[in-house]
Amino acid sequence: MSDADMQLNREMWDAWADLHYQSEFYGVDAFCRGETTLPAYDVEGVGAVKGTSLLHLQCHFGMDTLSWARLGAEVTGLDFSARAIALARRLAERCGLSAEFVEANVYDAAEILGRSRFSAVVATAGVIAWLPDLKRWGRVVADVLAPGGIFYLREFHPVSYVFGEDSNDPHAPKLRYPYFSTGEAIRLTGTGSYAEPGAPVRTTSCEWAHPLAEVIQALVDAGLRLEFIREYPFTTYRSFPWLEEGTDGNWRWPGNQSPLPLMYALRVRKPVG
Ligand SMILES: C[S@@+](CC[C@H](N)C(=O)[O-])C[C@H]1O[C@@H](n2cnc3c(N)ncnc32)[C@H](O)[C@@H]1O
Repeated sequence: MSDADMQLNREMWDAWADLHYQSEFYGVDAFCRGETTLPAYDVEGVGAVKGTSLLHLQCHFGMDTLSWARLGAEVTGLDFSARAIALARRLAERCGLSAEFVEANVYDAAEILGRSRFSAVVATAGVIAWLPDLKRWGRVVADVLAPGGIFYLREFHPVSYVFGEDSNDPHAPKLRYPYFSTGEAIRLTGTGSYAEPGAPVRTTSCEWAHPLAEVIQALVDAGLRLEFIREYPFTTYRSFPWLEEGTDGNWRWPGNQSPLPLMYALRVRKPVG
């Protein structure tokens, strides 16, 4: 990842952290009253966390990290956005929850936090697209995990990332981006964010496509063992205008059929010895 790409992404996430902390989408006030941000499938997928040391990678301003703390984990949240980390610390204090928040690049996690330290590492919802080198990422995850520890990833499905909106008909899916990785950054410039689409904040970001096989292979090559992988026909927010909201609050392709997956989750474990 070039320093220039990284700088663009960090500037965007610094700007978005402030926007998101105040947004209805994230709902900080309800969170402070005790609401969790963790869907049941993440809680089940990670497994029991009470008393475990849990690292949340790319924690944004810490709502999920602090939700894991409410379930009894000793939590560390890591993110490269200084604004996100400052807000995460503020949120922890406001909610009276104990957590360590560390400002760092994912790729430096093992050097900064130490090796073989965590029994659970978690990353969810819009994380790997910001990382150019998944092999290196896999090795970092394996390094920070204690033997016997698990890594849980829930991500937006790479199949859904190939679609964009048709400018003539925003409700018609259009094939716009490659499924397979070119290794090149996809540069996107726009205003607003997924949580605050109308906000007058203009940013440029650099993203990388990661097919499902690349994600799994990076973790397997780092010595981690796959325990499960699940594909979901729904996603957590209206990532495309053509999605329809279900009674469970999740978003699906229209109609009764779910032609394509919108999210996936997997868990890998570091072998003992
Ligand atoms: C979409 S957010 C993650 C969402 C989070 N799970 C939540 O629900 O709020 C992505 C996060 O990744 C962070 N990030 C992006 N690239 C990073 C990197 N190279 N190292 C550390 N954090 C990074 C951003 O600052 C941002 O907070």
